[in-house]
Amino acid sequence: MRNCHQEIARWIEPLGAQVQIDAAGNFRALYAAAQPRARRLLIGSHLDTVPNAGAYDGVLGVVLAVALVEGLDGRRLPFGIEVVGFSEEEGVRFGMPFIGSRALVGRFDQELLDLRDVEGISVRKAIETFGLHPEEIAQAELENDALAYVEFHIEQGPVLESLEQPLAAVEAIAGQTRSEFTFIGRANHAGTTPMHLRCDAVAGAAEWIGTVERVATETSGLVATVGKIETRPGATNVIAGEARLSLDVRHRSDKIRADAVENLIRQANEIAARRALLVRQKTVLSQSAVAMDPLLVREIETAIVKTGCKLHRMMSGAGHDAMILAERIPSAMVFLRSPGGISHDPAESVAEDDVEKAIDCGLHLLDQLASSPEFYTRTKRA
Ligand code: HGY
Ligand code: MN
Ligand code: MN
Repeated sequence: MRNCHQEIARWIEPLGAQVQIDAAGNFRALYAAAQPRARRLLIGSHLDTVPNAGAYDGVLGVVLAVALVEGLDGRRLPFGIEVVGFSEEEGVRFGMPFIGSRALVGRFDQELLDLRDVEGISVRKAIETFGLHPEEIAQAELENDALAYVEFHIEQGPVLESLEQPLAAVEAIAGQTRSEFTFIGRANHAGTTPMHLRCDAVAGAAEWIGTVERVATETSGLVATVGKIETRPGATNVIAGEARLSLDVRHRSDKIRADAVENLIRQANEIAARRALLVRQKTVLSQSAVAMDPLLVREIETAIVKTGCKLHRMMSGAGHDAMILAERIPSAMVFLRSPGGISHDPAESVAEDDVEKAIDCGLHLLDQLASSPEFYTRTKRA
């Protein structure tokens, strides 16, 4: 992350931006407005990613923001541009997503600082080891000079490719629930224990995983994923006493998502009861669906048309920092086509022409916002 910060600073400082790393490890670079003490527009995304990832999820949005500042060619706007590279959005290391962006909306609490990674290192310790000071996190919070947040991001799905469109305006981001399920049986010898005398935690978990897939397939617009399975003790010749699973459930409707999670918890209890297993469930995150700011969505659509692309509005199935920033300031996103619809994998890619169109769209958007009285004057959200 340090190398990443240094590389992006090397690109943006010559453009006349001041760089700082806030106490939550976020990269923050302010390209000042024409006038001092003007308000600012945030443009950015996250710099962390997932294991065995592609090269564009998150970081493309930060580099594209730098390209927009470069595209101004020294011009100063009525508002400043703060390029933000969030430190931790995916939630891979500490199991909790949006750690970086939560600092900007004042939701970085004690509980978050105490979360630990697989080596038992806490968020607090990780921040200190990086050379930052957790007690300064409150200073990372947005002040009331923040006008809005715009995030450019790969779609990470098949829609734009199927429509043969390079760009889309995101109108909403699906809500998501992240939970941990632990099925508990009785470890025993794999060779001497007859099938009818087993309490096999993995077999129970496997039956439930099939149910997760069936419920999601039968519920329109719902996606549910078991991405992580850990068995204990995890030996070939031992019937597992424990199976720990992750569950990720998403839908544009918070009610449908909540009902599905409740149904899957009920199904896990029924399967466990039938198999003389115990099951424990813990919800790690329940993030509501978030609508993007209508004014910004309209301005993004106008900019997309100016770029010579057709209009398309869509919902994001992936979570993004924009859903956290939207708690505090008007927020919106521009999607770039994902060739092959692939993401969270080394095959993730973007087309250079699409990136060029996204930069063109971003520059049109900046000019539109610079001449939009409504963009400055509104204090409450549209
Ligand atoms: O998992 C997600 O929704 C995103 O990649 N953070
Ligand atoms: Mn991601
Ligand atoms: Mn992302």
